[in-house]
Amino acid sequence: MVSLNRSTTENEMVDAVQLQALLDERREGFSLARPFYIDPAFHDLDIDAVFSNEWLYACNVAEIRAPGDYLTMEIGETSIVVMRAQDGEVKAFFNTCRHRGSRICSESQGHVHRLVCPYHQWVYDLDGALLHARQMPAGFDREAYGLAPVNVEVICGMVYVCIADTPPDITRFRRSVAPYIAPHAPERTKVAHVETLIEDANWKLVIENNRECYHCSGNHPELLATLVEFALPDDPAGSAYFRGLMESQARHWDAQDLVHLPADGGNEFRCIRLPFHRGAVSFTPDGSPACLKLLGNLTDPDLGSVRMFRVPNNWNHFLADHIIHFRILPLSANRTALRTTWLVHEDAVEGVDYNIEKLTSVWRATNAQDARLAANNHLGVASKAYVPGPYAPSEFMLRNFTNWYAGKLAAYLEKTELGRRTFTLHAHG
Ligand code: FES
Ligand SMILES: [Fe+2]
Repeated sequence: MVSLNRSTTENEMVDAVQLQALLDERREGFSLARPFYIDPAFHDLDIDAVFSNEWLYACNVAEIRAPGDYLTMEIGETSIVVMRAQDGEVKAFFNTCRHRGSRICSESQGHVHRLVCPYHQWVYDLDGALLHARQMPAGFDREAYGLAPVNVEVICGMVYVCIADTPPDITRFRRSVAPYIAPHAPERTKVAHVETLIEDANWKLVIENNRECYHCSGNHPELLATLVEFALPDDPAGSAYFRGLMESQARHWDAQDLVHLPADGGNEFRCIRLPFHRGAVSFTPDGSPACLKLLGNLTDPDLGSVRMFRVPNNWNHFLADHIIHFRILPLSANRTALRTTWLVHEDAVEGVDYNIEKLTSVWRATNAQDARLAANNHLGVASKAYVPGPYAPSEFMLRNFTNWYAGKLAAYLEKTELGRRTFTLHAHG
């Protein structure tokens, strides 16, 4: 069993030699070694190597509809504000005042005319420019003290942010997923319900749990009333019933020019349209629509669901009648925040076209079940008895995910101080 030595010179840093050894020892197709899931130093590493260095799903544009609407999110210790600016563009800034660094917005969501720092009341406009800094001397250069910007990409109404100076290329993702998602018009929606669940599990266990339906038959009765548990149209484990269903739905969607075959997202993303059980059209207890007003200009309720996943923090379902966005953020090595947002057509009327209970009951139950599974998984992994175990064939997306994650850490080691430290130690040892 590998134990981690930590450098005492920097807070909770992963030892680079140990990290390299763990990556070298990793068996592809197996779950990760224990420290990756439970060690606080690895949580810090994940924030640095993964979450500070990737595009993260933030919200749907419908959540910040009017200029001044904002939402905050925390990436480790770093808080950012995602804002609808005066000109209608979506912008994002670091939530850190340029005077002496106070956090500016303390709410998770809100509406402002200006951003006013609570400490000494420096005032910023909705573009992050510093407007007033009282008592500062004449000649003080306000222009040099605007809020630091964060990279933003809006893809079919979904806001992604990246706090890296040089974000990874997102064009392949954008080009690939847009044709699947655009017909569902996520930008013409409104939030019907939003819920945040704190899971007692490492974020990677939350993702791994989400990336397989091996656990569905034993745990998700509500979900399996409508969801077909096979992940690919040509799933080798797929039953004759599934193949027949897939064939007839494929014809149905082809006739409407709706893309459904899996996108080529490699380990980075997945996008596919899959059918519900015959007779079902939505994630409701009886499979009937959750919202009578369909999304965008859709007229056919029977569109299955577009399932889109993107590393490291986002998965989604796009149906004919509603959309569900899921966003995770790691809080610590053993706690993860899952935010689920249910959206319907912007003109749908609650109590007339939809009701919250019918719209949300299936996934609220499923989320609660998954939270228990992930917490239990974490407890077992924390035991000294844990050793990495093999993924089943139906867990192929976990293999993709852990390969992606290991690649991300290897790349980080290569280009950082941590990696140079490994080299120095090897050279001297
Ligand atoms: S820290 Fe914000 S005004 Fe002083
Ligand atoms: Fe699940």
